[in-house]
Amino acid sequence: MKRILITGGAGFIGSHTCVSLLENDYEVYLVDSFVNSSPIVINRILSICDLNNSNLGKNLKVFKGDLKDKVFIEDIFSNADKSGNPINGVIHFAGLKAVNESVLNPLRYWQENIFSSLNLVSVMKKYNCNLLVFSSSATVYGKESSSPIKENSYLNPSNPYGNTKLTIEKILNDLYDENSNIWKIACLRYFNPIGAHTSSLIGENPVGMPNNLFPLICNAALDNNTKLKIFGSDWDTIDGTCIRDYIHVSDVAEGHLKTLEYLNNHKTNILKMNIGTGLGTSVLELIETFSRVNKVTVDYKFTSRRDGDSKEIVADNSFSSSLLNWIPKRSLEDMCIDGWNWKKNNVNGF
Ligand SMILES: NC(=O)c1ccc[n+]([C@@H]2O[C@H](COP(=O)([O-])OP(=O)(O)OC[C@H]3O[C@@H](n4cnc5c(N)ncnc54)[C@H](O)[C@@H]3O)[C@@H](O)[C@H]2O)c1
Repeated sequence: MKRILITGGAGFIGSHTCVSLLENDYEVYLVDSFVNSSPIVINRILSICDLNNSNLGKNLKVFKGDLKDKVFIEDIFSNADKSGNPINGVIHFAGLKAVNESVLNPLRYWQENIFSSLNLVSVMKKYNCNLLVFSSSATVYGKESSSPIKENSYLNPSNPYGNTKLTIEKILNDLYDENSNIWKIACLRYFNPIGAHTSSLIGENPVGMPNNLFPLICNAALDNNTKLKIFGSDWDTIDGTCIRDYIHVSDVAEGHLKTLEYLNNHKTNILKMNIGTGLGTSVLELIETFSRVNKVTVDYKFTSRRDGDSKEIVADNSFSSSLLNWIPKRSLEDMCIDGWNWKKNNVNGF
C-alpha cells in the first residue's frame, strides 16, 4: 500500500483528495495546522469512509502541526522511514490562498507559502521522497493571456498570492534541474474549484469572510438581507460579467489521483498542468444555474470593476486530459447542487 502525505489535508480540496485516495487504497498521512480549517473535518472524512461501508478510515493518520516547523515535518518522515514503510509521495495543498488578504499583507503570504514549501521539499530531499504534486493556481498566468489559456502562456501574476505560487514553481524547477534523475513533480494549476462532496459532510469552510464567488452566492441565498456584489456589468462578454472556469472539487480530487498514478508509472519529469473543465461560465450564468437547480433566490447588485480583474479566465485542459487520460465529469448543475447542499447542512460551518 502506498503511503502519501497530504499537507493541508483538512482544507477544501485536501479533504476531498484524502477521501479519493482512501477510497483507492492509499494510506494517507494528513498534515494540517488548521489555520484555515477545523479538526472536525477529520471525523467527516472518517464518516464518508464509513458510509462506503468500509474499513478505510484505518488508513488515515493525522498530524497536527505547521509546515513552517521543519522539525515537525522531519519527525514525520523519519518515523515513517523507521517503520520500514517510508512516505512514497506528497501532495502539497497547505498554504494561504486569499488574494485580497495577500495584497494587504504580502509578507505574511511570502513567509507562509514559501517557508512552508522550502521546509517540505528540503525534508523530502533528505528522506529520498521524490514524488510531489504541488497546488499551483491559474493566478500564475498574466492578465494578457487570452482564454483558453495553455500551460505555455505568459506567466505574470497580478498579486502577491500568485507571485508566491509562481515562485514555488520556480523553486521546484531548480530542484528538478539539480537532479533530474530522481524527481517526479507536477504543478497543478487549478482554475475555480467549487461544489462539495455529495455526502454534504465536507465542503468549502473558510475561516472568516469568504473571498470566492461561490461561497458568497451561498451566503446570499441563505440570507435574504444579503445582496451579492457583482464587480462590473460592462465587461466585453455575453452578459457583461466576468467569465471563469468552474470545476467540481471532487473532479479536482480525482485529478490528483490520476496525477499520482501518472507520476508513479512514468520516468522523472516536472509537469505544469491546467486543472479546469475548459468551459467558461459568466457570473450571471452561475447565479442563474444555482438559483434554478436549487430553487432559491440570489439577490445581487452591480458595483464597479475590481482592480486586477480579467474578463475571462478559462483553461485549455487538452494537456491534462490527454496525458492523464482524464476529463472532469461533473456538470455546473452538479457543482451548484452539491455546493448548496453542503452549505444548507452546515450553515455555520463547523
Ligand atoms: N480553492 C481554490 O479556489 C484554489 C484555486 C487555486 C489554487 N488553490 C490552492 O490549492 C491549495 C488548497 O486550497 P484550498 O481551497 O483547499 O485551501 P484551504 O485553505 O481550504 O486549505 C489549505 C489547508 O492548509 C492548511 N495550512 C495552511 N498553512 C499551513 C501551514 N503552514 N502548515 C500546515 N497547514 C497549513 C490550512 O489549515 C487548510 O486546512 C492552496 O495551496 C491554494 O492556494 C486553491
